[in-house]
Amino acid sequence: MLVRALKFAGFRNLAPASLEPGPRFNVFAGDNGQGKTNLLEALYVVCTLRSFRSSRLKDLISIHDEQAYVGARVARGGLERRYELTINARSRVVRLDNKAVRPIARYFGNFNVVLFAPEDLLVAKGSPGERRRFLDRAVFTLEPAFLAVAQDFEKVLKSRNVVLRDEQLATTSKEEMLAVYDHQLAKLSAQILLARLEYLNRVHDIFAKAFEEITRSGLPASLSYDASGEVVEKSESRALPTLEDLETRYLEAMMSSRRADLGRGSTNVGPHRDILLFELAGQAAGTFASQGQLRAMILAWKTAEMDLLAKVHEDPPALLLDDVSSELDPKRNEYLFEFLRERDNQCFISTTHPKFVLLEEDRRDFSVESGRIELVS
Ligand SMILES: Nc1ncnc2c1ncn2[C@@H]1O[C@H](COP(=O)(O)OP(=O)(O)OP(=O)(O)O)[C@@H](O)[C@H]1O
Ligand SMILES: [Mg+2]
Repeated sequence: MLVRALKFAGFRNLAPASLEPGPRFNVFAGDNGQGKTNLLEALYVVCTLRSFRSSRLKDLISIHDEQAYVGARVARGGLERRYELTINARSRVVRLDNKAVRPIARYFGNFNVVLFAPEDLLVAKGSPGERRRFLDRAVFTLEPAFLAVAQDFEKVLKSRNVVLRDEQLATTSKEEMLAVYDHQLAKLSAQILLARLEYLNRVHDIFAKAFEEITRSGLPASLSYDASGEVVEKSESRALPTLEDLETRYLEAMMSSRRADLGRGSTNVGPHRDILLFELAGQAAGTFASQGQLRAMILAWKTAEMDLLAKVHEDPPALLLDDVSSELDPKRNEYLFEFLRERDNQCFISTTHPKFVLLEEDRRDFSVESGRIELVS
């Protein structure tokens, strides 16, 4: 797929503009705080309808405006579509080819982007929650329907926790309500866990191979996933249990943990408590690996994510690389750009200086200054 045009107005600090990106490398150079990440965010948001920096869409509206608009013209397989998002203080309007989109799932699938941001580079050392979000973002990119499941899960989890903490409720009605929530939560938990584990199975070997290519150290990188409530065994990580099986196991685990949950006022079993680990030579990378090795792991993951997406959709996604080069050492940069040269994804690369981007051919350069984006060459 190719982004043929990107148009925006009232979006963060960006001056209203309409850009025509090239089919391969689009480099956006500018000093700090000029609007480079905002530009990549605009593209990410019109594709996913979410931001990677803020959970509220209204943060994207320029402080000098009441409305933000982003539109993209995207070509795939001889067909061109127009994706549009308008954000107001209290609502959003989504349009595909000038028409409202129902159900919203129809919006997703033909327009895909993979984002690689400097914050990602230290995720292997970050909190378990950061790593779960990192994983979920990758799952969502591959399977857009996963987002609705994750959102439903959050809602039910919140309601269950409210009931757990409610001291006014009579014990019997509390138990009755929890029984209902347990069923809903078990079902959603099973879906989330299975989607995550399936994703990890698909990405694992590509990731391990990429890591070896980047580091050539002989130290193997791997991923391990520890599900709360012991609903899956380590030995099951390759031959996964069925959805029904998992649902039953979750239900049992939630029942056993009910007393503890009531005591703590929170739900202790579920995908929100699971732990994804990046490992180096079988050790938890967060405490064992060097900074360079940690970065190499995420670089390996991201390249694996891109390749997996291209394979599954039979179409390379657009890549958004937000100033990643300045965080990588020369050897890893060389790997990254070699990787990009060998594939045919359309890329949007931000940088503080165009010379950091080690690409000569098929390149279109833009400057970013105080939110104004101009074609340089
Ligand atoms: N809602 C908003 N309205 C107007 N301006 C905003 C809004 N949100 C952020 N900004 C401005 O956008 C600018 C930051 O832009 P951005 O994060 O894209 O910078 P950048 O070029 O990526 O910088 P760096 O190189 O430091 O990452 C800041 O000047 C900030 O004040
Ligand atoms: Mg930035």
